[in-house]
Amino acid sequence: MFHLTLVIALAISTLAPLVHTDCTRSDLQSTADAYLQSQSSGILSPIFNNASYRQNNAASTFTAGVLGTALKIDHNKTDIDTTSCATYTEVIVTNPSKPYVIGTQIHHNVGLNGTLTPALVDSVVSSTGDWAFNATQTLHYVVLEDWSLLPTANQSNYTYLQNAADQYLDLWSNASAVVPWGEPCDRLEGSAYTGTGSPTDSCDVGIPTASPSMNNTDRRYVVDVEMGTASVLCNFVSMGNIPDSHEFRLDNGKLRYVHTMTVMTASG
Ligand SMILES: *[C@@H]1O[C@H](CO)[C@@H](O)[C@H](O)[C@H]1NC(C)=O
Ligand SMILES: *[C@@H]1O[C@H](CO)[C@@H](O)[C@H](O)[C@H]1NC(C)=O
Ligand SMILES: *[C@@H]1O[C@H](CO)[C@@H](O)[C@H](O)[C@H]1NC(C)=O
Ligand SMILES: *[C@@H]1O[C@H](CO)[C@@H](O)[C@H](O)[C@H]1NC(C)=O
Ligand SMILES: *[C@@H]1O[C@H](CO)[C@@H](O)[C@H](O)[C@H]1NC(C)=O
Ligand SMILES: *[C@@H]1O[C@H](CO)[C@@H](O)[C@H](O)[C@H]1NC(C)=O
Ligand SMILES: *[C@@H]1O[C@H](CO)[C@@H](O)[C@H](O)[C@H]1NC(C)=O
Ligand SMILES: *[C@@H]1O[C@H](CO)[C@@H](O)[C@H](O)[C@H]1NC(C)=O
Repeated sequence: MFHLTLVIALAISTLAPLVHTDCTRSDLQSTADAYLQSQSSGILSPIFNNASYRQNNAASTFTAGVLGTALKIDHNKTDIDTTSCATYTEVIVTNPSKPYVIGTQIHHNVGLNGTLTPALVDSVVSSTGDWAFNATQTLHYVVLEDWSLLPTANQSNYTYLQNAADQYLDLWSNASAVVPWGEPCDRLEGSAYTGTGSPTDSCDVGIPTASPSMNNTDRRYVVDVEMGTASVLCNFVSMGNIPDSHEFRLDNGKLRYVHTMTVMTASG
């Protein structure tokens, strides 16, 4: 019996690297950098040649979407999910004639030897007319915040972060949702900020009345354990089935920041 267990354990440990390989932060950051370079030049990096593109929850193409236009990027920040081999990048463009706040997840296929190939670029693109949109004001608040990697002692595990994001998005549908609220917590919805600089700032304000039919669907996740973040792109059922991005940062297991982009103007 002992012998058999040992043989199985050996077989598993030999196979394990082939079946599951965590991705590295630097490889994933390289994809995000190529994405940012593509957006700022308007010329798509060839690493995306075989990838699908989704914009505002609808299938699109790189040339028809916002990546087809060169944009001067004023701010970018990337969350890295080494477990699901994905990234989430926040992009702010304040150019008054073409302002944007963009949230982009990039999901990869991972080869047996760990080779990463971008499979899906999934963007929520907000601009003039969208929920509380003002890119200049969003930038003003974002640069005041601390999104540095957390000391190990302040980190939470993957499932905890993903669950915290889900509980928050369930506030619209589940009156029993339990969000790990923190203080201070600052929420940036478009450009509307709840932060006042007070240590008792709370994100537990303006919470909707839950209705089971208002569950936000089609949730796509990127979770960065070292940064303490969970990004969710979804179909915001509660505001009429519109494209939405919610990004959460937790510190010591408590909600610290929330950034949202909600697209009111997309035709589909
Ligand atoms: C993204 O932000 C980093 C600083 O965080 C900066 O060094 C880099 O140039 C930015 N990339 C683009 C394309 O703007
Ligand atoms: C795209 O797919 C083709 C055909 O399978 C392959 O030869 C090429 O290397 C792929 N390119 C990228 C960037 O993955
Ligand atoms: C990984 O495998 C692919 C084919 O699946 C090959 O093209 C690539 O060179 C390999 N990369 C490394 C680092 O071995
Ligand atoms: C956007 O915010 C900036 C900074 O708060 C402000 O100066 C500007 O008037 C706002 N623009 C619009 C269109 O509201
Ligand atoms: C981490 O935890 C310590 C101790 O609770 C706290 O002082 C600090 O503000 C936390 N956050 C960061 C980013 O270090
Ligand atoms: C994740 O963290 C939570 C809260 O600290 C804990 O209850 C749970 O057991 C942890 N899960 C794993 C897989 O470590
Ligand atoms: C809402 O959807 C989430 C997953 O997307 C699910 O876990 C949750 O149970 C749903 N809540 C309700 C009230 O249906
Ligand atoms: C509502 O949230 C509570 C607390 O997380 C959970 O136990 C319950 O299963 C949720 N209900 C649904 C329908 O998802």
